[in-house]
Amino acid sequence: MASHKIIKTKRFFEEDFEENIAEVSEQSFPAWPPNEELKYVGKAIPRIDGYDKVSGTARYAFDVSYPNMAFAKILRCPYAHARIKSINLEKARQMEGVLDIITYENTPKIEWYRTSFLFDPELRYEGDEVACVAAESEAIAEKALELIEVEYDQLPFVLNAAAAMKPDAPNLFESGNIVRGKPSEYKRGDVELGFKEADYVIEDTFETQVEVHNPTEPHCSVVNWDGNRLLVWDSTQAIFRVREGVAQALKIPESKIRVMMKYMGGGFGSKLETGKYTVMAAILARNTGRPVRIALDRVEMNLAVGNRPSSIQKLKAGIKKDGTLTALSHHSSGVVGAYPSGAGCSWPLRTIYKCPNVFTEEYSIYINAGRARPFRAPGHVQGTFGLESLLDEAAEKIGMDPLELRLKNYAEKDQVENLPYSSKLLKQAYIQGAEAFGWKKKWKPAGSDSGLIKKGVGLASQIWWGEGGPPTYVTLELNGDGSLLLQCGTQDIGGGTYTFMAQVAAEVLEVPLDSIQVILGDTSTCPYGPSSGGSQTAPSVSPAVRDAAEQMKEKLISGAAAILDVPASQLTYSKGTITAKGIADKSIKVADIVSKLDAGAMVVTGMRAENKPGYAMNSFGVQFAEVEVDTLTGRVRVLKIVAAHDIGRTLNRMLLENQIHGGIIQGLGYALMEERVLNAYTGKVLTTNLHDYKIPTIKDSPPEIEVIIVSEGDPIISNTGVKGVGEPAMIPTPGAIANAVHNALGVRIKSLPLTPDKVLMALSV
Ligand code: MOS
Repeated sequence: MASHKIIKTKRFFEEDFEENIAEVSEQSFPAWPPNEELKYVGKAIPRIDGYDKVSGTARYAFDVSYPNMAFAKILRCPYAHARIKSINLEKARQMEGVLDIITYENTPKIEWYRTSFLFDPELRYEGDEVACVAAESEAIAEKALELIEVEYDQLPFVLNAAAAMKPDAPNLFESGNIVRGKPSEYKRGDVELGFKEADYVIEDTFETQVEVHNPTEPHCSVVNWDGNRLLVWDSTQAIFRVREGVAQALKIPESKIRVMMKYMGGGFGSKLETGKYTVMAAILARNTGRPVRIALDRVEMNLAVGNRPSSIQKLKAGIKKDGTLTALSHHSSGVVGAYPSGAGCSWPLRTIYKCPNVFTEEYSIYINAGRARPFRAPGHVQGTFGLESLLDEAAEKIGMDPLELRLKNYAEKDQVENLPYSSKLLKQAYIQGAEAFGWKKKWKPAGSDSGLIKKGVGLASQIWWGEGGPPTYVTLELNGDGSLLLQCGTQDIGGGTYTFMAQVAAEVLEVPLDSIQVILGDTSTCPYGPSSGGSQTAPSVSPAVRDAAEQMKEKLISGAAAILDVPASQLTYSKGTITAKGIADKSIKVADIVSKLDAGAMVVTGMRAENKPGYAMNSFGVQFAEVEVDTLTGRVRVLKIVAAHDIGRTLNRMLLENQIHGGIIQGLGYALMEERVLNAYTGKVLTTNLHDYKIPTIKDSPPEIEVIIVSEGDPIISNTGVKGVGEPAMIPTPGAIANAVHNALGVRIKSLPLTPDKVLMALSV
């Protein structure tokens, strides 16, 4: 039987090293061997909730409605920086259908972002919250916003890193415009010595833009007080974080709050924290005694709910004639907007290649714009573009095939802690990916294609964490009719959590998938499960499901032993039936065991085991891109991507391909078109809709995407051997595309996105 203990353990989550004290299961069963052929796990099984999604039955927070529900809208600051001189709510209050209005004058101070308040008279970006109205309809609430009279003192603002770093720049906070007051530094070895040992030192500067998450489903909460208990439907990646955030803001116990999230139309990191809008809706619901729905619109999503910070990366590599890296340094600054966040992007350079001498310095800088948040592989997408571009330049300098250069500097051990990897099959990814792509045939010196439309190829590598970890709990219930109920307080944000959980349980208990119901996203019924971020859902949850199912199997065998009067050691479990060895008529079906129990049901709690110390646990991959660039229009088209990844065991081939395709298309958007643009004179955002803020459509997507998985299971990571895949899929895409564009043109465009104007500029003489 599994026993449990509480331990200190650690993991990476979204570029941060976390120490957890967590309850774990000490599992007595072995991990699935890497090459074991499984019946359900790994197969291309359609989503078990696919029908609900396509038929419109699946309930998103956006769909939740209650009788007597009120609608809330937020008045946002129209300026980049201002202070409220006075605010008059009277006209708005008198409007027919307006129920309540909250602002800093009539609401208790609730601390937010450690630097300000839920409502703060100082407004630090266009979109900062001024007031929130509840009304009988959304249209009335919107109209009422226009009737709120606010007098603002406009204040000086800064919009980019260089301006914010000037000694006389207006400061966003008393402590200055650098987050934490200083850069983060990392070093190993001696970079100066490393550069001296090099035959060549390559230096360059690369820039990346601010990218906005823009998930399909807007941020939305529907809150409903039932007596002194609060039900919050929220489009969130982290129900337990929202429960904690709302409890702290309203100063009520967590047990009085129930947060629910069943389906989500994308989050990408923008839905990992408690929203101000959620707390405002809860206050309005308490004040009015009515359920309140608050749904942000596309403009608000482009102003106020997060973005990927920009970067200016000064990179330097020391390299020997044979391609050996002797030193790497990275100095970066990026804007995090008006409240604390991080803009570092040097992790790929520290970890992915073998290099003894490394120095990095990262500045995260405040400006008067919407605050950054984690965005699918925070830091890694930017940093990988910079590093992989520089390495391409290095390869060109010494006349080496860029793939050979990556292989030459292959890291056999983790570079930061000098630990062995739990598994690393990046070499196989290079070899199989190059083979499938036809790299040897397609790669040619940069700019050597003739004609007006030029083709080029490029590649970039990827490293990420995504090992997941405890705490993760799963409950599994077996009913008298043989059906199963699995519950976990994590969420399915689109990756397929419902489906893979059912697959893992079906695998162990050998029961049909449709006999399993999965319930997620409910803090009141589900045991604690992880936030859906950091590519950690599948690697955290799948082993806990297996633990629960294995415990259930053991329990069933002991039940059969009692009922059949045969010692457990003589019983075997197969396809939901337990049989005594050699006694054919002594057998019993799982459902019959359960129905004979007085309880008529069996319940177990499964857990994630600890992350074994002494190993670096990473995912790896490489993507190869083929592009064509029209030298007349400057337009880049991505023709083909081959994505070869080591992500441990595949849980579901179909969902995996979906997720990798999604990551590649999002990476393509970042490489070629997505960018938040600020008006330099007013500080206002110019890209507040999906016409001006361009995301890729199906016509922009590569006609060919090939997914190669080089890994089987990783038995050191967990009993299922799964590494996360959500973020790895996007990390190398922009770097690979940028290198392919350089290969096509023979000139390098050093700032993303690679828009037609920049291409034409680069081609002009
Ligand atoms: Mo996180 S950026 O939601 O994986």
